Amino acid sequence: MSDTVRIGMLGCGTVGQGVLRILGETAGTVERATGHRLEVVRVLVRDLQASRPGVDPALLTADPEDILGDDTIDIIIEVMGGLDPTHEWLLRALGHGTPVVTANKQLLARHGPDLLAAAEEGGSDLRFEASVCAVIPVIKVLRESLLAAEIDSVTGIVNGTTNYILSEMRRSGMSYDDALAQAQDLGYAEADPADDVGGADAAAKMAILASIAFHTRVLIDDVPYVGIDELQSDDVDIAGELGFVMKLLGVARLVDGAVSVRVHPALVPGDHPLASVSGADNAVLLESTMVRQIMLVGPGAGGTETASAVVSDVLSILGSRPGSFLAGALADAGLPMAAEGSLESAFYLRLDVADQPGVLARISAVLGESGVSILTVLQRGEGESARLVMILHRSPEARVQEALGRLRDMRDVRAEPVLIAVVGSGEAPR
Ligand code: NAP
Ligand code: HSE
Repeated sequence: MSDTVRIGMLGCGTVGQGVLRILGETAGTVERATGHRLEVVRVLVRDLQASRPGVDPALLTADPEDILGDDTIDIIIEVMGGLDPTHEWLLRALGHGTPVVTANKQLLARHGPDLLAAAEEGGSDLRFEASVCAVIPVIKVLRESLLAAEIDSVTGIVNGTTNYILSEMRRSGMSYDDALAQAQDLGYAEADPADDVGGADAAAKMAILASIAFHTRVLIDDVPYVGIDELQSDDVDIAGELGFVMKLLGVARLVDGAVSVRVHPALVPGDHPLASVSGADNAVLLESTMVRQIMLVGPGAGGTETASAVVSDVLSILGSRPGSFLAGALADAGLPMAAEGSLESAFYLRLDVADQPGVLARISAVLGESGVSILTVLQRGEGESARLVMILHRSPEARVQEALGRLRDMRDVRAEPVLIAVVGSGEAPR
């Protein structure tokens, strides 16, 4: 590459504008450190007239050919999001040998393998640190520092929007809707925030992390996910009274040589390191026999924070030879995916029941017959009804689900039971 590196950017929203700002502010430092001057020469958008404070309108184009068809462009930054036409455009760029930096987790969690293959074939480079946990360098650490660390589990708070919502509900009693609106205003949420609150954003990130941690291809379709959109604030409050904090967790682990990856709301004990990760911060706890525990924590969403990871990937490309440094990361070991129901977990179970003699005994009997044992019981009378909250000892999930099916059918049980995994105590899933 010549002294001036010509960059084409696809998208100029929350992250894209952050990239332009950082490149402008750090131009001198970058040139001194790398010997290259980074120049954004073209920026693709849909609406040329939209307000973009500080962005030179002369850079803007609505024609993708101005970037994809320009052979003088050295690096493409993709911060437009979406699957289509993004997938086809990046395949084309990589196939032509143009390095690509992307923050697009949904695209990577579906098409990562063929994008990396195109990078290999085209002799180019695909970097995607910003796609997971914004500025926290979790991909670099997994791929470079911990490549041979035989990771057993990756447990993370990997969505800033939902962590912000849960933290604000707990800290200030803010409503779910108000907290979500604030997260959108602050630039944390996806263009469609249903991806955040429904768990799809976290599932995509966990698929990417699991692929790298376990050297096995994991796609978003391999990751069952539940978000926080169905969560009831009562359960957040009761969990707090019991000494737990509600989090949306991604949990990826090896179980008897198979890979299990999931995203779901979970209770973590108040003294667990993940419990204190608040606001839009993310954290990833990496565990292995070899290195014990490493936790990476920091800003997990936001335009400037994500843009900083994008810029860092651009600098890595300048300092590396052609070829993807992540090639092979997605399919070395080829481990199978773990069967559903083969895992063990402790659980929080909430039942709204008739407040009558013998109800607790009948419920305990159902759990006992399924081989599920109770650690703690909390009961509150509410008129004719009672609210029973139990923490269940770690048990095979298939047994807990069987008991849940029977509890649902009991006349004593007046509403759909609520079952939430407990993670990170002696009762943690494994
Ligand atoms: P955004 O604010 O919605 O910006 C998207 C930009 O892409 C806009 O400039 C839009 O043009 C342009 N664009 C979208 N589709 C296009 C198309 N078909 N053709 C031309 N231009 C198109 O999104 P963002 O928050 O910056 O996120 C961008 C990417 O970064 C996404 O993949 C997201 O998942 C990822 N990401 C975001 C964050 C975050 O905190 N926001 C963090 C990590 C990763 P207009 O301006 O004309 O609408
Ligand atoms: N919407 C994402 C989040 C952005 O809230 O975590 C960071 O990927």
